[in-house]
Amino acid sequence: MKIKSTQETVNQSQADQIIIGHFKDQQNNPLVNQLSPELQSQFNARLKHNDFNGKAGQTQNLYAENGQVITVVGLGSPDKLTATALYEANHSTIQTVAKSRAESVANYLTSISNDNLDDNLVMKLVVLSSAHAEYRYEDTKSFKKDNKHKIKTLHVASNDNQEAAFQQAKAMSAGVNAARHLGNNPPNICNPAYIADYAAKIAENNNNCELTVLNHKQMKKMGMGALLAVGQGSHNKPKMVVLKYNGADKEQAPIALVGKGITFDTGGISLKPGPNMDEMKYDMCGAATVIGAFVAAAELALPINLITFVPAVENMPDGKAYRPGDVITSYSGKTIEVLNTDAEGRMILCDTLTYAQEFNPSVVLDFATLTGACVVALGHQASAVMTKTEGLAEDLKQAGLAVHDRVWELPLWDEYQKQLDTSFADMQNIGGFPAGTITAGCFLSRFTEGQKWAHVDIAGTAWNNKKDGATGRPVAMLVQYLINESQK
Ligand code: BES
Ligand code: MN
Ligand code: ZN
Repeated sequence: MKIKSTQETVNQSQADQIIIGHFKDQQNNPLVNQLSPELQSQFNARLKHNDFNGKAGQTQNLYAENGQVITVVGLGSPDKLTATALYEANHSTIQTVAKSRAESVANYLTSISNDNLDDNLVMKLVVLSSAHAEYRYEDTKSFKKDNKHKIKTLHVASNDNQEAAFQQAKAMSAGVNAARHLGNNPPNICNPAYIADYAAKIAENNNNCELTVLNHKQMKKMGMGALLAVGQGSHNKPKMVVLKYNGADKEQAPIALVGKGITFDTGGISLKPGPNMDEMKYDMCGAATVIGAFVAAAELALPINLITFVPAVENMPDGKAYRPGDVITSYSGKTIEVLNTDAEGRMILCDTLTYAQEFNPSVVLDFATLTGACVVALGHQASAVMTKTEGLAEDLKQAGLAVHDRVWELPLWDEYQKQLDTSFADMQNIGGFPAGTITAGCFLSRFTEGQKWAHVDIAGTAWNNKKDGATGRPVAMLVQYLINESQK
């Protein structure tokens, strides 16, 4: 689906199908007023018969002589229209429209004016949820649906003030789609080498990009003991994928992004239970997030320098696998007692965070499907952010609100650190039952001392359920953060 902005009015649009919003019991809808007298009388008849009154969840199709279809979407009462409600109203409308034969669709939900939602947020909600609704995973299906039932072009109504938001949301959608592609592909395909190849294509297809990939031998020489310990049970050798984007002066410190890239997490010798283990193909969604954001940043040609680190590793049980009780020396020199091989994310991230510091970044953000406890704490609504850097959680929160991809802060108080104490190493890799998300954050904090850094646990947001697959979250939030930073 191509997404374009349009300044055409409803009566100028030649699209096969036109989507307009209507509030509950709205008296004078300027968009309805633009329809032909014939369509207006169709609409009024529906209102009279109480088939439609604009309640949230209702839609009403009107049929023009020339074959055009007008879909009027009920938005409920204006004061109750939240970002979630608009996102979902648009999402279900586009899903329905995508099943029709309309090839070109014009969407005027961006032109609703509302006191709760500003023009830019409305634009981003509509573009992101349209792209979300139209996405279809077919990579590993032998029978691909024909393109008849696909929207070819979506014309999004935009005014002059919304144009920048439109471009940003379009780039975010491309990033979200890249992240969903990586997340949904199965672990026998999307392995460490696949991620490295995918990054190579991104570097080739975008300006000012460079790729470096470290293989396991190079990482061994460097001493990345924690990362390599996790990978040593797999035939798919670990890779460190480093993507650079240079959009600003060389002197400007880069923003560093780190994404957990466990291409499959069996738990290792601390084997996970069977049911739903397949979902651990999504354990590289942190990697997918930073790669998706990278794509969007490059597409927007943001005036920043960006450096993205993806440790791509598979966690398997094997005769060579690392075991509970092992003491590992990390790249930082700090030693780690492994008490659970299923707490592998922090093992690969700690070495990557140490490595990232060598590039003198202005700020480091890591993204990881790190703990099941995060799903317990926040469910599927918000990603968890943990940081000791003044103002950083707030910046991420604001970015999330601007694109309806929300994050919520959990504390990283020192009192939690003692849960990582052990008699046999500098720290152990698990902190016990209480505050599992926070103690994972505490573990990482030991490798980012003196840095501006935040950790984002996306275990609850990166995917929702098996049917819908990867969500591409929190790419939009991260891209919005990068946009905000680029404007500082
Ligand atoms: N990738 C998992 C976390 C996870 C589990 C995310 C389920 C989403 C859904 C991570 O590697 C893991 O296994 N974490 C353990 C940590 C524990 C051993 C301290 C967990 O959460 O159980
Ligand atoms: Mn695990
Ligand atoms: Zn994991």
